[in-house]
Amino acid sequence: MRHISKISDLRDQLRGQNRVAFVPTMGNLHEGHLSLMRIAATHGDPVVASVFVNRLQFGPNEDFDKYPRTMADDAAKLEGENVYVMFAPTERDLYPEPQDYRITPPNDLGNTLEGEFRPGFFGGVCTVVTKLFNCVQPKVAVFGKKDYQQLMIIRRMVDQMSMPIEIIAAPTVRDPDGLAMSSRNRYLSAEDRAEAPHLYRLLNELSKEVQSARPNGEQLLQLQAKYLATLQERGWKPDYFEARRQVDLMRPTEEDLSNQTPLVILAAAKLGQTRLIDNLEIE
Ligand code: PAJ
Repeated sequence: MRHISKISDLRDQLRGQNRVAFVPTMGNLHEGHLSLMRIAATHGDPVVASVFVNRLQFGPNEDFDKYPRTMADDAAKLEGENVYVMFAPTERDLYPEPQDYRITPPNDLGNTLEGEFRPGFFGGVCTVVTKLFNCVQPKVAVFGKKDYQQLMIIRRMVDQMSMPIEIIAAPTVRDPDGLAMSSRNRYLSAEDRAEAPHLYRLLNELSKEVQSARPNGEQLLQLQAKYLATLQERGWKPDYFEARRQVDLMRPTEEDLSNQTPLVILAAAKLGQTRLIDNLEIE
């Protein structure tokens, strides 16, 4: 595996490759990330992974400085997955001057759910992903459903900007107790780690209730409020716990609810200092 940090070296290394499968990451790799490498290998060749903690997508009070950086470990893991190039630019390589040109997603998609609680987050993600796409020029790129809204926003961006890249969605990899793997899980205290799988359990419970009760709009709001209250009682600080339409993440209308339009429940909540997100598509 080549470990490359300069954009010009990356271009040299990938010259003539027109089936590149790309997996962007912020490093501190776990099984969830590695599953994306394996999926990438079934869609293209060679596989290129990037490791870059993108300052643009962190808010002023978020954990940019604290975000775990474990480059040697990450390199060893990628090597084990037969990744051809690990592209790990420094900030100076990727942002040699202030990044004044930005890609901003539309308000309805970019400022709701995660976007409401992390202003500017998806603009930062779209900007870096566009830039990474331009560096790597992949044929396909793989994103995890763990970050459901991110996946949808990238899909739409690629579509609307006519980027010639196929976006592949990868299923969420979980610990045996159901907790979605995340680089942030390492911040959980032992007690919080024991509580953490409840987020996924409650997603499953709401999903079952929606399937069996077939609620109207009013009833759905009541159900969601009940789950928010349950999280609070268990010591969480929830940001949202909401069923949305799978197709565009808008709130379901009465018609959607009576027609059983496919929904996804999305949740974000803080446990101690750690903010966890998860989601579940309702079958
Ligand atoms: P990061 O959080 O490192 O995640 C990189 C990719 O791994 C994303 O597509 C994410 O959805 C996926 N992923 C994370 N945990 C997963 C899990 N448990 N199961 C399956 N896939 C999982 O997402 C980012 O980085 C950044 O926003 C990025 C796209 C790299 C732009 O900076």
